[in-house]
Amino acid sequence: MAAKLRAGDRLVVASHNQGKVREIGDLLSPFGIETLSAASLDLPEPEETGADFAANAELKALAAAQASGLPALSDDSGLEVEALDGAPGIYSARWAGPDKDFSIAMEKVERALAEKGATGAAQRRANFTCALTLAWPDGRCDTFEGKVYGTLVWPPRGSKGFGYDPIFVAEGLDVTFGEMEPDEKHAISHRARAFELFAAVCLDPE
Ligand code: IMP
Repeated sequence: MAAKLRAGDRLVVASHNQGKVREIGDLLSPFGIETLSAASLDLPEPEETGADFAANAELKALAAAQASGLPALSDDSGLEVEALDGAPGIYSARWAGPDKDFSIAMEKVERALAEKGATGAAQRRANFTCALTLAWPDGRCDTFEGKVYGTLVWPPRGSKGFGYDPIFVAEGLDVTFGEMEPDEKHAISHRARAFELFAAVCLDPE
């Protein structure tokens, strides 16, 4: 059975991405768990050598749990574009280059779609995937995955989110994730879906 976190426990959010740390902190806040970021503890950022989102989430969470002596929750996520055979996928952060400039990453996606002649919505289908791993200092870990499907628009719109949010419109909506309030995004996002699975198994409802 998976080990559970309880109100008052301290948890490391094993990410150096401020957007993710903020969203995970928002999702955890109703459960009374104290969160610490990997950056505030000066934890190193392990190299993401896994072959998929789950493998990368596991290696990040285990590294943070072992280095801090506390349970750690990691997030490995990214954008998968159907017409690009799932790219950028696990390389989503790397497409933004060393300066983590997502306007460059979004332009790269748009250029790749233009090269394929992908102009109609049906050719611009994409999804975000998020794998969340809760790891313990003794090496136990559990991983949960969530997805949200939609289409990509150009030019980018909105500045409320992070990463590829300004070009992603979820199915059934006409605003981008970048134009949505955090609570609206949390209601449907890949991260929120993975979080729901994680919460059901690893968080104490008390
Ligand atoms: P990694 O999980 O650290 O490898 O980084 C994944 C990258 O995917 C992030 O840097 C973002 O650019 C992108 N990404 C993941 N989740 C989201 C999201 O909710 N919105 C926009 N971009 C995201």
